[in-house]
Amino acid sequence: MPGSILRETGMIRRLAPDDLAALMPLARGDPTTSAGDVSLARSLSDPEVRVYGIDDPASAQALAGYALVVRLPFEAELQAILVRPGRRRQGLGAELLEAVIAQGKGWGSERLLLEVRAGNTAALTLYHRLGFLEDGCRRGYYPPSTPGAPREDAILMSLPLG
Ligand SMILES: CC(C)(COP(=O)(O)OP(=O)(O)OC[C@H]1O[C@@H](n2cnc3c(N)ncnc32)[C@H](O)[C@@H]1OP(=O)(O)O)[C@@H](O)C(=O)NCCC(=O)NCCS
Repeated sequence: MPGSILRETGMIRRLAPDDLAALMPLARGDPTTSAGDVSLARSLSDPEVRVYGIDDPASAQALAGYALVVRLPFEAELQAILVRPGRRRQGLGAELLEAVIAQGKGWGSERLLLEVRAGNTAALTLYHRLGFLEDGCRRGYYPPSTPGAPREDAILMSLPLG
């Protein structure tokens, strides 16, 4: 696909309910999502949600990254994507996002939607490279990322899947 930067770097797979223990530490350390353990457990068995993970070859019980996408009536929404800090810039984020895009196409979704902090350069660069377009901005949507800092804008993005 145009803009594809997929590299053969990991073992990506759909996570199942018995992956919850491996997923929880990664998701609990994800500052970009507020999903709690109960909501994660529900997501792993919800037919309208897919959670993808990449096994960490360094540890049989650990995941190097995960992504969570939800099916909406006409669109799909990326609700979380995270790669463990020590495994970043190795193509895993792009690999997870490619799996999410393929899932959205498989559902017949018209677009893949997401929102991202305006200051999240890593994520914004990744999304632009995979062809996402900026649709708008919600001023001051996110609470400050550090105490005393101003609230942060949300950039709304989408990728046409048709
Ligand atoms: C965003 C995130 C998932 C990217 O994961 P990753 O595995 O490092 O991404 P990749 O290695 O696949 O990078 C693909 C491309 O994205 C861009 N990119 C990734 N990280 C970047 C950074 N820190 N600065 C600039 N560009 C970056 C580059 O174009 C990169 O290609 P290159 O390495 O050939 O230059 C990761 O930084 C992360 O987990 N961040 C914390 C959670 C988060 O912010 N999630 C997004 C919520 S909206």
